[in-house]
Amino acid sequence: MSSSTHPADPTDSTDDMDSMDSMDSMDSMDSMDAEFDTVAAWTADVVAGLDPDERIPAACRGSGSPGALHWLLDQVAPDLDETFLDCGAGIGGPAAFAARETGVRPVLTEPAPGACRAARSLFGLPALQAGTQLPIATGAIGAGWSLGVLCTVDDQPAYLAELRRVLRPASRFGLVVYCAARPGALRLEQPEGNDFPTVEALEAMLDGASLRVLTSGWTDHFAAFPADWEEVTGKVQAELERRHGDDPRWQVAEEQSSRMGSLLSAGEVRGRMLVVAAA
Ligand SMILES: C[S@@+](CC[C@H](N)C(=O)[O-])C[C@H]1O[C@@H](n2cnc3c(N)ncnc32)[C@H](O)[C@@H]1O
Repeated sequence: MSSSTHPADPTDSTDDMDSMDSMDSMDSMDSMDAEFDTVAAWTADVVAGLDPDERIPAACRGSGSPGALHWLLDQVAPDLDETFLDCGAGIGGPAAFAARETGVRPVLTEPAPGACRAARSLFGLPALQAGTQLPIATGAIGAGWSLGVLCTVDDQPAYLAELRRVLRPASRFGLVVYCAARPGALRLEQPEGNDFPTVEALEAMLDGASLRVLTSGWTDHFAAFPADWEEVTGKVQAELERRHGDDPRWQVAEEQSSRMGSLLSAGEVRGRMLVVAAA
């Protein structure tokens, strides 16, 4: 959700007039492209200069803390012989984390070409460029996850139906979905192109897609990012700012990130974690 590696600290500067001007001149598609493609590729260039162990925290973009990722992996309990799908994988940090922590072999799907290239070059992971229509056979996936993706998708029921299609019966799949705390308009500005369902609306959509919720939780119940993750993300953020701070696309991505950080900080939006199975 962020041009940095997780939603921006709401105490960061959020009222930069240049950023607002840039935001005004771009439509929501441009804003999403800036955030998920252009800045993703820039981030990969910076991250490529880091030690391998530092690349994972720097390449997790909206997925939750390592504690939350561990919880999901424990609940999904992937079989090492199964293909582990990361749908909407960004630049590959969470998939590389899953591979390192459990030994699974991930396959990534991601619509932004710059992010696909980044995941391949940073982690050597197979990344297929795809949006909601997955180039994957029906029932081929034994486990996986999709983190911070649903709120950025145009047709959310179609995206869930497609996940359901590729899942093998009895396979478990993890989701992080940013949900609005209550129905109706948010009090704060939301990132362009995002649409946050309430928990009730999400559950109805999952039901409609024949996905059964096995267990659930909240990302904010897990410890915040550990100091070494914060250090890496701060270093990458500073380098990106140094290289691209004057570029309107950077400013737009920062504004997107800042809006998300403010929503999370105010409790207007929360990260819902779910493990689902084909009903
Ligand atoms: C907030 S980022 C999260 C990236 C990654 N999951 C992570 O946690 O690091 C959301 C991602 O969803 C991708 N996305 C947008 N629409 C999508 C769709 N229809 N299907 C799959 N991914 C999509 C975006 O390109 C972006 O990389």
